[in-house]
Amino acid sequence: MLVAGLADTGEARQTKALADIVSSGSVTVCADPDNLPFSSANPQTPGYDVEVMRLIAGELRARAEFQWVSTVSARRALANLLDGECDLFPGLPLASGFAAEYPRLGFSGPYYTMRHVIVTRTGAGVSGVTDLRGGPTAVEALSDADLFLLGRGYPRRTYRSQEAAFQAMRSGEARAALLWAPMAGWLSKRSDASDLMLVTVSDADLAVDFGIGFLRGDPALKPALDQAIATLKTSGAIAASLGRYGVPRRESRRGREPVIWPVGWTPRERVRALLVAQASGEGRPDPIEGRFLFEGNCEQCHRIDARGGGAVPRLQAYPLGGEGRFVKTVLEGRNERGMPAWGGLITEAQARSIFRYVHALVPHMDFPPDASAGERARQVFNEICATCHGLTGAGTRIAPSLQTFKGTDDEFVDTVLNGRPKSAMAPFRSIVSVEVARKIRDVVRELARID
Ligand code: HEC
Ligand code: HEC
Repeated sequence: MLVAGLADTGEARQTKALADIVSSGSVTVCADPDNLPFSSANPQTPGYDVEVMRLIAGELRARAEFQWVSTVSARRALANLLDGECDLFPGLPLASGFAAEYPRLGFSGPYYTMRHVIVTRTGAGVSGVTDLRGGPTAVEALSDADLFLLGRGYPRRTYRSQEAAFQAMRSGEARAALLWAPMAGWLSKRSDASDLMLVTVSDADLAVDFGIGFLRGDPALKPALDQAIATLKTSGAIAASLGRYGVPRRESRRGREPVIWPVGWTPRERVRALLVAQASGEGRPDPIEGRFLFEGNCEQCHRIDARGGGAVPRLQAYPLGGEGRFVKTVLEGRNERGMPAWGGLITEAQARSIFRYVHALVPHMDFPPDASAGERARQVFNEICATCHGLTGAGTRIAPSLQTFKGTDDEFVDTVLNGRPKSAMAPFRSIVSVEVARKIRDVVRELARID
């Protein structure tokens, strides 16, 4: 079924009902083909999310069919679930902020809790968090671990990825590394070193529960998933799967139930942002790069649409004249007021790229006083819409093609005036009238003919 543009309220779609899963004997699961130790398309080392999902499907008396999707962009990956391409999506954080962003999704209870561990060499004198006071600890820059050490005032060295932090500990540059447990386990296992030690960390700040996401619809599905998870936890099957990938387990204090940890949702997102940061050091400000940097590094405080909230200011429509102040604040931060300093991680050009992007979120526009609706439309298109949808409206990595827009003209106009909630598509009511929005539709048609 193809639902065009605005017409998709999402209500028609839902995950296959439990009864259909059982009667067809099959359930489709989205997973990343290349994200070990979490998941992989390689049948020799499928990763534990894949193994766990096979077991859970088995409990539902079905076979898991995998739909391979990249999780480099969480949003893109989840679109597969929202569009009904798959029924279940493992490895989603059970955090209230995440659930609020995706109101159409339901979640199972946790099948593991992802925690942190300290990786260190035996004899380095580290046996718990307080020992990290005594020497530099390697962390992935801007990761939860980084913020955790920063908050305690412990010495730290920051690296571009979990793996780089691990290598720094191996080479002796740092005394220890504080890493996501699955990454720590996987990297230690692969490094084949016999002098490594993993120390579990139990701080609640450094733990995230993960569950399975699905489209809401069938009230029977969640209880069935939770029952399957409970059965597999009791039998030790989930723990055994984690163990195969070197994931360290922490026996909980109460009872014997193992506390278990996979999937790289959060870390992977951040790794991605920093990779972008690394890849394109200098050059002209690029709003597309700006979006990736914004979503990787700023969104968690300033919100996806840069609306801000509480003590965190709005960055939407940051005025053009404020670019210098913006860049200075980003690079120097206002550490005591909760705005981190990004100098050293983000270049000045990249700060300008972020500025270009947030400026375009809900821009101000100055029109010549006698400009016709058609002229206004072209100006708005070139200066604003093209930032995200591309110069010809053919779409970019961050926004869909307008040339292939399938809805009616009224739907187009409605989207332009009212935006799309929880996305970068802001309402443009303040600068665009209905008439101008219709003309923009014409501009797009025109460009589609030329393109
Ligand atoms: C940990 C939360 C957090 C993160 C992450 C964060 N900010 Fe902020 N930001 C804040 C807070 C809080 C303030 C307000 C500081 C103050 O009161 O002076 C702020 C202020 C700012 C300001 C000044 C706004 C003004 O009114 O002049 C800019 C610009 C800004 N942030 C940009 C960014 C960018 C760009 C990123 C990502 C690279 C980012 N911030 C990431 C919390 C955050
Ligand atoms: C800051 C980036 C950004 C800017 C600027 C922007 N858009 Fe969008 N637009 C998006 C994104 C992202 C989506 C997809 C939203 C979603 O997930 O539904 C979108 C969706 C749309 C859609 C619906 C497409 C579809 O197939 O459903 C239309 C129409 C649209 N934009 C028109 C415009 C016009 C016209 C402008 C200029 C006035 C504009 N956009 C400016 C990011 C942007």
